[in-house]
Amino acid sequence: MDVYLAISTVWAHLPLADAPVLDASYVAQVFSRALHILAAIILLGGLFYIRTVLAPAGDQACFAGRRAIWARWAGIASGLLLVTGIYNFLTINNQVKADGNTLERAYHMMFGVKFLLALLLMFLAAVLAGKTDLAERFRSQMGKWLNISWVVGLAIVIIAALLRTLH
Ligand code: HEM
Repeated sequence: MDVYLAISTVWAHLPLADAPVLDASYVAQVFSRALHILAAIILLGGLFYIRTVLAPAGDQACFAGRRAIWARWAGIASGLLLVTGIYNFLTINNQVKADGNTLERAYHMMFGVKFLLALLLMFLAAVLAGKTDLAERFRSQMGKWLNISWVVGLAIVIIAALLRTLH
């Protein structure tokens, strides 16, 4: 309680023109956003590292014998992206409605494209780290699929940056 009091006192004195109310829903929103960004860093950062550092040394170097560990982290990051992404969308939508507006059609269209690209990226990350026959087939063209994953990831981040300007 003392910690909350201290934080809200500091908060009240921040030089913000239109300070958001420091309540549970605000804290949840910031927490969810931070988790979303963290999960995106893990998934894209991992794929970037495999593509640029490990893959040039040959397919066998990609996981350094620790494929299952990366598969688990790719799964955790994907799960977090889905949960926090849906939560972010719902809170943004509710907030815009509470202000008496609606999200633009362009927002919904871009969000739809981002969602589909995100599912594609999660599939690629999972199948490239998987242990099935399908995974082996994808891994036989590791460089190509890593390049595609990276382009898809880049498109997702650009769309995310654009979405932010639309509400
Ligand atoms: C591979 C997957 C993904 C990546 C790399 C990614 C990346 C990002 C990044 C970098 C942001 C900007 C964060 C900010 O400005 O606060 C963002 C925002 C967002 N993401 Fe994702 N994301 C992914 C998947 C998803 C999924 C699956 C959903 C929905 C189910 C989603 C929904 C959102 C929403 C609603 C926002 C806020 C956009 C806004 O400011 O209007 N994301 N994402």
